[in-house]
Amino acid sequence: MAAYTGKVIVLTGASQGIGKALALALSPQHPTLVLAARDEAALRGVEAECRALGAATFVFRTDVTDEAQCRDLIRQTIRSAGALDVLIHNAGGGMNARFDEMSDISMFEKLMRLNYLGPVYLTHEALPHLKKSRGQIVVISSVAGLTGVPLRTAYSGSKHAVFGLFESLRIELAEHGVGVTMIAPDFVQSEIHKRAYGPDGKPVGDSTIAERVAMPADECARLIVGAMERRQRLLITSLRGRLGRFVRLFAPRLIDRIASRAIRRGV
Ligand SMILES: NC(=O)c1ccc[n+]([C@@H]2O[C@H](COP(=O)([O-])OP(=O)(O)OC[C@H]3O[C@@H](n4cnc5c(N)ncnc54)[C@H](OP(=O)(O)O)[C@@H]3O)[C@@H](O)[C@H]2O)c1
Repeated sequence: MAAYTGKVIVLTGASQGIGKALALALSPQHPTLVLAARDEAALRGVEAECRALGAATFVFRTDVTDEAQCRDLIRQTIRSAGALDVLIHNAGGGMNARFDEMSDISMFEKLMRLNYLGPVYLTHEALPHLKKSRGQIVVISSVAGLTGVPLRTAYSGSKHAVFGLFESLRIELAEHGVGVTMIAPDFVQSEIHKRAYGPDGKPVGDSTIAERVAMPADECARLIVGAMERRQRLLITSLRGRLGRFVRLFAPRLIDRIASRAIRRGV
């Protein structure tokens, strides 16, 4: 039997991008997928594709920046599916702006709410159920959560924050058998780069990365499912990301230059 057959999986940010790809990648294992995001019509489309692949599904429209809606998502999951085995924090947003050129810094608060506080609210409500199932928390952070990246100050800060939170929580949860799997993707093809906040706090509109050479979302999803099945501590999706962890110990300025070049060239 596959690892997630019959398991109840809550997945945020399931309406598009990596979240949608992850829902589709998990579906052939016949899990019960609880799909959450703000765009209900898009979620219904993903739901139909997941069902066709073998998943049972529920759709709950949720804005993860709102504590009450996060708590409601978990309560509705328990009411509808009767249990919770896996909580995947995937919903997220980005930015593309130099700090000294920002005319609107509200993105700091918005990205902390979306990328950090959403996972806090959801995890707090879900924990008793995850302890009962000796379940798993999966966090889609970023390589920008492991190292500094120019034009990503608010994003990188929020992604470092989730690393701090869940690396600490993992230790507390070990005695309860709840696993924590951290995911640090490098550039992936998705809408996040177009929806990213620019210096005026509005979406930039055009992607600033070379989408064609970025990792396809379905390939990223396949790697994530593998890491989940192994209950791996950390998955870094790129070779430069994996090597960078060690190189920065003795050549941190080299890593700064690599991060700068990646943002300048978009690859
Ligand atoms: N793409 C990359 O290069 C890359 C690299 C590293 C890490 N990541 C991380 O991967 C995750 C997924 O990103 P993606 O690239 O797939 O981006 P995406 O295509 O923009 O998708 C983001 C998802 O998050 C949802 N979302 C946004 N705001 C929300 C809110 N307030 N409440 C609930 N859901 C919300 C969106 O759905 P609605 O708009 O329908 O709410 C959408 O489903 C993020 O955490 C991101 O930081 C991405």
